[in-house]
Amino acid sequence: MSITTISTTPFAGQRPGTSGLRKKVSVFQQPHYLENFVQSVFDTLGDCSGKTLVLGGDGRFHNLVAVQTILRMAAAHGFAKVLVGQGGILSTPAVSCVIRKHAALGGIVLSASHNPGGPEGDFGIKYNIANGGPAPENVTEAIYHRTEAVSQYRISDAADIDLNRLGAARVEEMDVEVIDPVADYAELMQQLFDFDAIRKLFAGGFRMCFDGMHAVSGPYARAIIEGQLGAPAGTVINAVPLEDFGGHHPDPNPVNAAELIDLMAAENAPDFGAASDGDGDRNMIVGRNFAVTPSDSLAVLAAHATLAPGYRAGLKGIARSMPTSQAADRVAEALGIPCYETPTGWKFFGNLLDAGKATLCGEESYGTGSSHIREKDGVWAVLFWLNLLAATGKSVEQLVSEHWARFGRNYYSRHDYEALDTKAANELMASLRIKLATLAGTDLGHYVVALADDFEYTDPVDGSVSTQQGIRIVMTNGSRIVFRLSGTGTEGATLRVYLERYEADPKYHHLPTQQALSALILIAEQVAGIADWTGRAHPTVTT
Ligand code: G6P
Ligand code: ZN
Repeated sequence: MSITTISTTPFAGQRPGTSGLRKKVSVFQQPHYLENFVQSVFDTLGDCSGKTLVLGGDGRFHNLVAVQTILRMAAAHGFAKVLVGQGGILSTPAVSCVIRKHAALGGIVLSASHNPGGPEGDFGIKYNIANGGPAPENVTEAIYHRTEAVSQYRISDAADIDLNRLGAARVEEMDVEVIDPVADYAELMQQLFDFDAIRKLFAGGFRMCFDGMHAVSGPYARAIIEGQLGAPAGTVINAVPLEDFGGHHPDPNPVNAAELIDLMAAENAPDFGAASDGDGDRNMIVGRNFAVTPSDSLAVLAAHATLAPGYRAGLKGIARSMPTSQAADRVAEALGIPCYETPTGWKFFGNLLDAGKATLCGEESYGTGSSHIREKDGVWAVLFWLNLLAATGKSVEQLVSEHWARFGRNYYSRHDYEALDTKAANELMASLRIKLATLAGTDLGHYVVALADDFEYTDPVDGSVSTQQGIRIVMTNGSRIVFRLSGTGTEGATLRVYLERYEADPKYHHLPTQQALSALILIAEQVAGIADWTGRAHPTVTT
């Protein structure tokens, strides 16, 4: 065994996006591509000697190769120890949990979240810092600048370690501990939720279906929901992570998780349905023939949070991304706590959580989480719902309907126009921006515009300012239309149109969503000229 220095030349475009560096597998398979990036991460971290690193991924194609390479490089950089998930597996929330619990310097997550996997699919790598959260932009930019100048990397020529065998191993002088990917995470969940009550619920015949979508959350759901909470075997479907996610698209929404939605609509449907995404940080909650929007889910969890042991002391605040519906704001108001409105992207919650200003956070894009870690957390959200169902004895639909009756309903839908010509999409946004100044006060039929702006956020903790975070048109009655371009798409541009209508009267709480929003949908088209700019008469995906 020896450590060698290998000469290399920079690759263009190794700039981490919102969730790390994501590229096609074939790009990562180029010699030196991964090594250059990892070397740039380690160079940015500085002296790693004596430090602990956490390492794991969502099990997608190329995960195992990358894990072994990173272990050899970590050994060449003086890390004292790497905690690596068995089989190279760790969900994104589990990495966050393990970093915090073991006071590691940071962690490397190998995932492209819900992007397709397999040899033709995507791969990704992301660095998380000591608080367990994604590296902030100054760190990712520093990594990027290193990738532009990297001329050599250091790596051991040690053999692969056996990732299937739990326990201690060694690469050069570095200790490697192959850990059970679920153990630390499950222990944290036991502290937060009433496992006894949930066990009783299952013992009483409560039936659930958790769709692991052949991605990383399957092993977590199996170990916790079937193993520790006593749900019958088979409660977790598509439970084994596959390198290509079984060819499916592991992004939980009613369109992608059609199998689960159909099951929940069938006669004799289970009481509760849930799904998570590729790397286990997203969640979808479904009742019998009743899908819960992520915005409503956040509001319901917030309203009942004190039923869960980990939140018994109450919430310090709630945070939601700007396009997420304002349902949570009404709960915050009733609880007398602040509600923060941040730009899209989980990273914006980090400061609020670290500063103790917010306890629960949520996004319309099927992300929910809390101060327990610094990533959004799919299985956590599902366990939180199970805790509420067990504590109240109510059904999902009952909990949500009663919530609407108390707070009013924020009808909500997102219309996505995918794979647009980037130039046309940018022009649509630019022309909307020009219109903004003239919109306020305009009567748009059913609605009068109260505010039209391009969302700008000043972080209340560090004062940093983020501009152009989405165009919002807010009506005098609180209804809203928001337009923004996705920051995570891989093909052309994706326009997202977020529609929200507030309805106080319970008589009108059970309309079909698209019907309830039809006037706003027309206004969105009129104001933005979507069909003219994009040539599309309809969205690609409606959720
Ligand atoms: C990722 C991020 C989320 C974000 C979502 C949608 O999952 O972690 O924070 O809400 O992408 O982003 P997009 O820019 O595509 O709307
Ligand atoms: Zn994800």
